[in-house]
Amino acid sequence: MTRTRCDRTPAWGALQAAYRTQGRAFDLRRAFAMNAGRFEAFSQSAPHVFADLSKNLIDVETEQLLLDLARQTGVAQQRDAMFAGEQINATEGRAVMHWLLRTPPLDPAMPAQSVHRHMAETLHEVHTTLDAMLAFAETVRSDARITDVVNIGIGGSDLGPQMAVLALDAFVLPGKRFHFVSNVDGHELASVLGKVKAESTLFLIASKTFTTIETMTNALSAKAWFAAQGGTDIARHFAALTTNVAAANNFGVKTTFGFWDWVGGRYSVWSAIGLPLAIAIGADGFREFLAGAHAMDEHFRTAPLEQNLPVRLGLLDVWYRNFLGFTSRSIAPYHSALKRYPAYLQQLEMESNGKRVDAHGEALPYGTAPVLWGEPGTNGQHAYFQMLHQGTDVVPVEFVAVKQTTHDLPGHHDLLLANVLAQAQALMVGQADAGGHKDFPGNRPSTFLLLDALTRGSLGALIALQEHRVFVSGSVWGINSFDQWGVELGKVLAKDVQARLASGDVTGLDGSTAGLLARLRD
Ligand code: F6P
Repeated sequence: MTRTRCDRTPAWGALQAAYRTQGRAFDLRRAFAMNAGRFEAFSQSAPHVFADLSKNLIDVETEQLLLDLARQTGVAQQRDAMFAGEQINATEGRAVMHWLLRTPPLDPAMPAQSVHRHMAETLHEVHTTLDAMLAFAETVRSDARITDVVNIGIGGSDLGPQMAVLALDAFVLPGKRFHFVSNVDGHELASVLGKVKAESTLFLIASKTFTTIETMTNALSAKAWFAAQGGTDIARHFAALTTNVAAANNFGVKTTFGFWDWVGGRYSVWSAIGLPLAIAIGADGFREFLAGAHAMDEHFRTAPLEQNLPVRLGLLDVWYRNFLGFTSRSIAPYHSALKRYPAYLQQLEMESNGKRVDAHGEALPYGTAPVLWGEPGTNGQHAYFQMLHQGTDVVPVEFVAVKQTTHDLPGHHDLLLANVLAQAQALMVGQADAGGHKDFPGNRPSTFLLLDALTRGSLGALIALQEHRVFVSGSVWGINSFDQWGVELGKVLAKDVQARLASGDVTGLDGSTAGLLARLRD
């Protein structure tokens, strides 16, 4: 498919003009005063998620132009190519089909299902693998002798399952503890090993490639520790979650759950990489998590662009990045169980869209992924919200609030909800005439995502929503959101430096690296 680069479309020029004429001077307070229907126009429901986009620096005309931009850059065609299983990850020669992992099995009574016929066999394989993985999860759940599950993995093999196990804390089986070891820094593994016993621990070695140095180093140390504790039954105490089953077998792990190269690491929580989550919330719970995501897939696949939440969010991201010049987005989940949600989104957005060349390798003259950062509210309020309200940079904030709670401590939840509403309100309305330091400029944008409850299904939907919005902005920018070549150079250099740390040889090194290396060897 030939795609017009976004900055060469008529819509891009129209958006630049719109920015000059009204975008730059847009005022949210005036927009609400002039349009009583603004909340309705800029809010919508999607599966499990209600989104209020009305406190964003955008009017109806600009959103129309952004939708034109989506049409002129072929976003819908690229989405359809993904759902057709085409090799849209061209630099790695791979299809992008993490969505297939949450597609229900084909029902012969329903021929009009969303899966292309040629994928029926793959879908069958997906379900066979899922069934085996969930059966194993149930076995572990009912084995009272296993009290601790230690996931060893990094990046997508850590962030997804860790974020989800924490988020779904209210559904986690009592009597099992979950630990996540990602860093090659031995402090992390040593600390976990200090808390567990070999006879009651299951180690999950999670690595798509089974070559990642951090994971292999931690896995080897865990295996050595297990043996030193007198452990012999590797088949019972170790399982590998990987596309590289042969490497896992060579490593000595016989219990393996596989997945496929068309699942990107940061999109892999729906695959065998989700095993810690499946153990934590059970087979039925994991299926609900998949079902929530599938509902969002169907929304993305079928809703008209103007009522398609991932499309609207992704286009807003483009508006902010390329026309208003905002370089970051703050993530503010008002639910303490979502503590790893900002970190999870960092990898999703920045590893996917942090690219400076288009899908053909041509350098791009416009910005791509923003920096994502954040902490759960209300903690962020007492740390960096000062800057969000009164700093010199405008940072769009994306709030997540949850209507119902799973605890019964009186007063807390109302206070939490009051805070999230008040922060979004304060960012927008500001405060004038209080005098110098006490003035707030206001007109600071935010998006408000609202869940009825933080459940297995709603978490699945929320994560799929984020995956697809990243897809949309990446499509407009014309980049390949599914490779990650930018992580390779550091890996190669680390090998060289590791040898030099041992030998002390600094020949050919830059002055700074040589100087630091010498000090470290002193
Ligand atoms: O280094 C980046 C990366 O390749 C991520 O994309 C991935 O999620 C992570 O490393 C872990 O990779 P693996 O699952 O193959 O160990």
